This record gives sequence, structure tokens and C-alpha cells, in this order.
Amino acid sequence: MLVALDGPAGAGKSTVARAVADALGFTYLDTGAMYRCVGLRAGAGSDPANHAVDVAALDIRFDGDRVLLDAEDVTDAIRTPEAAQAASRVATDPAVRTALVARQQALVATGDWVAEGRDIGTVVAPDAELKIWLTADPVERARRRELPVEELLERDERDASRDVAPMQPADDAVTVDTTGLSIDEVVARITGLVGAVR
Ligand code: DC
Repeated sequence: MLVALDGPAGAGKSTVARAVADALGFTYLDTGAMYRCVGLRAGAGSDPANHAVDVAALDIRFDGDRVLLDAEDVTDAIRTPEAAQAASRVATDPAVRTALVARQQALVATGDWVAEGRDIGTVVAPDAELKIWLTADPVERARRRELPVEELLERDERDASRDVAPMQPADDAVTVDTTGLSIDEVVARITGLVGAVR
């Protein structure tokens, strides 16, 4: 079974996806980490039309909570605001998306998964048994990410307006607004939804 968890930055996707996966005994897939790895290689200010990263040649692995890029532990390096902006830029490149989507589809082909991203329910796994669109008020999202709200909205805008696989809810996604909710409340809501479709 696959639970697709999509939504904008700061909605609580990573925390919630991890907790839902733990609660259900599913495996967690952080697709944003894969775009961040490509962003890290492309460098700050990367021009999506002109970066020199050959995604097919990158070795991206997950080892528990750690992210390994060409055998180097980049778990912390990919979490900087610069890496996030670079990820958002390279994520507009169709060649990057095609390569990463293929890897993600191969990963989730067997077993039970909670996959988190922007396009899981629309592109990676349109047949997912359950699709959640996780969102929250932008001011709260910016506070959670410790970012100026303008920077968060700039990234939302880029993610939502790109030509390829723009960030948007799947038609059959269930929207969960996490504004003012605790993690436990959100997790309970989603595990309840999983129970209803299983
Ligand atoms: O979820 P995140 O903040 O780690 O994602 C980093 C960037 O990667 C985000 O700005 C958009 C992009 N991304 C994407 O385009 N598609 C995904 N499935 C996951 C992330």
C-alpha cells in the first residue's frame, strides 16, 4: 500500500510522514531529500536550464534517517535554506524530474510506503490508495521553517507554477489543514483515513 503525502513547505509533511510510517510499520520516502541532493550538487544560485548535474550518475541512498549522496552523509548539508532554494530551482528541470520520478517509482513498487513530496499523488503514484494534501496557514508554515514568509511564498510560487508537475493537490486527495493541530492529532487523522481504505 502507498500513502501519498503532498503539500507546500512547512505544512509538517516530514514529521507527519515519518510518524504515520512508524505507526503503521510502513517505510518512509522523503522525495524532497532527493531534489535537495541534486540542488546541492548544482550549487547555490543554480540555473535550472544550465546546471551541469547528471542525475543518472548520482548515487542517492537512504540509511535510516541519514541521506547519503555518493557515499557522503549529506543529511545536514541538504537542510540549509540555500540547499532548499537550489532544490526548488533544479526541480523545475524536466530531465531532473523524469530521472528522480523513475527512481521513486522503482522504490515504492513493492512494500508499504508513506511517500512525501509535491507530486506523489499526481505523478509518482497516481494510483495511490490514499492521497493526502497537507497544508497550513502560510504564517504558521514560515514560523515552523524559521523563514521570512516572503521566502516561503517565493518557493511555493515557484513549486506551484512550474510547467512540469506543478505542486497541486490530486483531484482525489483529502486535504488536511494542520494549522493549530498537534502532530499527534494530524497523525491520528491520517492513520484513521488509512484504516478506512485498507
Ligand atoms: O519537501 P522539501 O522542502 O524537502 O523539498 C525541496 C524542494 O524540492 C521543494 O522546493 C520542491 C522540490 N520537490 C519537488 O519538486 N517534488 C517533490 N516530490 C519533492 C520536492
